[in-house]
Amino acid sequence: MNNSNKTAVVTGISSGIGLALTKKLLEENYNVFGTTRSGELNTLVHPNLEVVALEVTDPLSIQRAVSKIKALANGIDLLVNNAGAAPDVFEVKPEYEAFTQTLDTNITGVVFFTEPLLNYINTGGQVIFISSNMGLPKNAAANGPGYRMSKAAINMYAAMLATRLADQHIRVTPMHPGWVQTRLGGDQAPLTPGQAADGLYQGITSNSESGKFWNITVPGIEAY
Ligand SMILES: NC(=O)c1ccc[n+]([C@@H]2O[C@H](COP(=O)([O-])OP(=O)(O)OC[C@H]3O[C@@H](n4cnc5c(N)ncnc54)[C@H](OP(=O)(O)O)[C@@H]3O)[C@@H](O)[C@H]2O)c1
Repeated sequence: MNNSNKTAVVTGISSGIGLALTKKLLEENYNVFGTTRSGELNTLVHPNLEVVALEVTDPLSIQRAVSKIKALANGIDLLVNNAGAAPDVFEVKPEYEAFTQTLDTNITGVVFFTEPLLNYINTGGQVIFISSNMGLPKNAAANGPGYRMSKAAINMYAAMLATRLADQHIRVTPMHPGWVQTRLGGDQAPLTPGQAADGLYQGITSNSESGKFWNITVPGIEAY
């Protein structure tokens, strides 16, 4: 890793948006600590990338990943909570297994991975949550109960954190990456992961207002 680079942590880089954003951040001269469940990544090897094992629904895995990042990184400039699941996105009625899996991954896992890293984020750093416009109340529809509620909750957590971290000048942004061709988004989506990563990077480098929802498809702050 290069000591003069900024440092990013990105969760869920095995595929999709997380992998594309990691490539983008490496191009932009970040050191990246990227997480996969296995702790391995065969599709991308880079001298400024360190792959860390993380299963966000397992508190022990979170503890080990956080310890490794703290031991190797010299502070964090950018934390991107990207890992997420959407098993009930085509369902209308909440079903227990899919609902709890979604909330465990998209809320509990995100919150309890973020909290122990907060005191390691540099003054002037950023926390990004890859959220979804499906979690905005104005876009409410019947499908995806766990998924929509989980993203709505993360938008609230982002707004709360923005207040908590204001004195440290840490900017917090929940972001909609567009509808993207990934395992989660499906083949019909209009955006490639690379296009989503470019849009997210534009949002990261914009001087957005902390705590506000950012939509890359209409760059700028979007009302809830
Ligand atoms: N694609 C879209 O249109 C779209 C739209 C709005 C928001 N998003 C959000 O974008 C984020 C990335 O999704 P994607 O579209 O890139 O889908 P994806 O290709 O399925 O990527 C999801 C990533 O999250 C990881 N992950 C899932 N559950 C996990 C867990 N329990 N512990 C650790 N890692 C876990 C996956 O790891 P494994 O490979 O091990 O499963 C994978 O790396 C998600 O938060 C999603 O909600 C996507």
